[in-house]
Amino acid sequence: MSNSNHQPILLIGAGNMGASIAKGLVATAWPAELITFCEQQTSRHDSLKQSFPDSTVISTTEDITHTPKVILLAVKPNDMADVCQSLAINQSFSNALYITIAAGLPVSCYQSWLGDHASIVRCMPNTPAAIGLAMTGLYTPESTSVNDKNLADQILSAIGKTLWVNKESILDAVTAVSGSGPAYLFYLMECMQKSGQTLGLSADESYTLTLQTMLGAAQLADQQGLDFETLRANVTSKGGTTEQAINCFMQNNLQTIVEDALTAAASRAHEISQSFGKE
Ligand SMILES: NC(=O)c1ccc[n+]([C@@H]2O[C@H](COP(=O)([O-])OP(=O)(O)OC[C@H]3O[C@@H](n4cnc5c(N)ncnc54)[C@H](OP(=O)(O)O)[C@@H]3O)[C@@H](O)[C@H]2O)c1
Repeated sequence: MSNSNHQPILLIGAGNMGASIAKGLVATAWPAELITFCEQQTSRHDSLKQSFPDSTVISTTEDITHTPKVILLAVKPNDMADVCQSLAINQSFSNALYITIAAGLPVSCYQSWLGDHASIVRCMPNTPAAIGLAMTGLYTPESTSVNDKNLADQILSAIGKTLWVNKESILDAVTAVSGSGPAYLFYLMECMQKSGQTLGLSADESYTLTLQTMLGAAQLADQQGLDFETLRANVTSKGGTTEQAINCFMQNNLQTIVEDALTAAASRAHEISQSFGKE
């Protein structure tokens, strides 16, 4: 998508994800003086001022003194109704682009709090946002302008890659694959490290071997741009060691296990959305 101009951003909730997004924005040359943090935990204010000296830090939405183009909502889902209702009473925010990263809350909830005409982009980033390697799924209703879509894309691209979906329900699949995905890979690494120890490696040795293998495999896939099945076939010689392990995974139906796990995650995401949607 095309680049938009840098715009004033009001970031509400500067916790783990909010601060990661701000870090990404500044790293991509978004001027910190255009960022206002609204964070109710005053204990976080000093570190925000230290990390983003040119930004403005306030404690509540009542302290907002300007009209931001973008309002980035990064509070927990249970705090979202209060935040949105406190913004809705300010007419000057009616043209803002609202970007939310809250898990589970459907666009219909924001429309009920902010009004039907509010421009809303719903996103599902993941924790590698902290190092600029997030994968973020985004959805917005068709009524959102191309400019607002481009702006949302530019902001989320500051923390990694973006992928737009054209149906809100597909965000449940995004949650199941990339939103929760880092934990699956940590679990696989945990299993590999423990298995290495069973085979005689120390915990440290097995950790190093596992981690570098995961990093190298991901980079190789990224650089070669081949599908995963081909990449696997390329390193699986007939009668070799890798084949023995892959056969074992297949006999134990790893594909079915993974599919069941991701289906469970997607169902839970759907359930959470439904429960918020009823409120
Ligand atoms: N962490 C992840 O992996 C991940 C991934 C995708 C999406 N998300 C979503 O990202 C959002 C933020 O998650 P997080 O882990 O960054 O949460 P967090 O670390 O708890 O940060 C949220 C911050 O917002 C503050 N806050 C709450 N209500 C406020 C208000 N009315 N005005 C100003 N500040 C307010 C909170 O203060 P208090 O502590 O006092 O409440 C807290 O400091 C959540 O909606 C989550 O679903 C997270």
